[in-house]
Amino acid sequence: MEFIENLCCPITKNKLEIISKTEFGKYSIPTELDSFGELKHGLIDNSKQFFYPIFKDIIILYEHYAIYIGNEIDNRHSLSFDKKRVLDYYNNVNYQVKDSFKVYADSANWVDYREVSSEYMRKSFTKASRHYPPTGKYLLDIASGPIGFPEYIALSEGYEYRICVDISIKALMEAKANLENVGQKGIYICGDITNIPVNDNVCDVVLCQHTLYHIPRKEQSTAVNEMYRVAKIDSKIVIIYCWFYNSWMMNLTLNFVQIYRVTRHYAGKLYVRIINSKPKLYFFAHTPRWFRTSFPFSKDIEFHCWRSTNKFFMDTYIHKGLGGKWILNKLGEIEDKHSRFMSTFGEYAAIVITKRR
Ligand SMILES: C[S@@+](CC[C@H](N)C(=O)[O-])C[C@H]1O[C@@H](n2cnc3c(N)ncnc32)[C@H](O)[C@@H]1O
Repeated sequence: MEFIENLCCPITKNKLEIISKTEFGKYSIPTELDSFGELKHGLIDNSKQFFYPIFKDIIILYEHYAIYIGNEIDNRHSLSFDKKRVLDYYNNVNYQVKDSFKVYADSANWVDYREVSSEYMRKSFTKASRHYPPTGKYLLDIASGPIGFPEYIALSEGYEYRICVDISIKALMEAKANLENVGQKGIYICGDITNIPVNDNVCDVVLCQHTLYHIPRKEQSTAVNEMYRVAKIDSKIVIIYCWFYNSWMMNLTLNFVQIYRVTRHYAGKLYVRIINSKPKLYFFAHTPRWFRTSFPFSKDIEFHCWRSTNKFFMDTYIHKGLGGKWILNKLGEIEDKHSRFMSTFGEYAAIVITKRR
């Protein structure tokens, strides 16, 4: 609970005060909330306008879930179409057990679980940690998801607390179970990457894996600026980003498969607007140039290779009887030796920002 002083109201930016259930009546907090047995505490902002419940140790600091308790007009805007579809997608996604941890069931679409590629895949999952100190107090995992892979869990091993922020409450509950399973301490916050409810200069490292490209195109810079804001001076922000149609290596090696994927991607964008079917994920990839030119701190951005290939490349070229392991070993060596080149030529980059004074 000591961390609460580092939090702020995502709407008013005011400080927050913790109150217990016995005080709810004083602030006109709706009595319907009493029926949630697990609700024992909540946070109110200093101006006494917004109430944020804390359920099962998950601090709900998402602007759209805040309960208005003020006497004026609630000026909150509704969610944009693309943001809502990502929220709906992750609120409805299924989970599966993998190596005794729960992961998103859709990860099988992006992660190659075959034995032939397991070493190469595992290595990529550990790579973010190359770019920040091995120990510290607060590692902010923004859009953490359920944190199901052992290598992903291990990224915060040397940190006192992993602050998990995500829009999905269900994902945070799974993250809590997964971290507790290995004895790591977490702080769990339901919040938005484009409006992080954490004060400036708090986090020793900020990690954002595989999410920025699911944020609407125009809001991705807001998300990057938010990560920068909450990071401490001299600390690192590590963003794992997918270039998809901007990856020359994938375009050249997968040619017809890639043409099919890109066509399906754009058709999907149209489809979700015309047909109100089950929620589909949003995706937009900026170019490396966009990162190099869009921020006042762009000169402090470095590109490293996270993994140059994707699942479609693996399915096409990597096979057990055809030297698959050897090819991936060699590719891994090339990715390490020519990390900068492979980071923008290949599929996934680790974009590392140093926050300067
Ligand atoms: C592809 S998953 C990545 C999860 C995890 N970082 C990983 O690498 O396995 C994307 C995650 O981003 C979360 N997310 C999507 N939009 C978000 C937003 N605006 N703010 C915070 N989290 C968001 C989703 O709920 C989901 O858990």
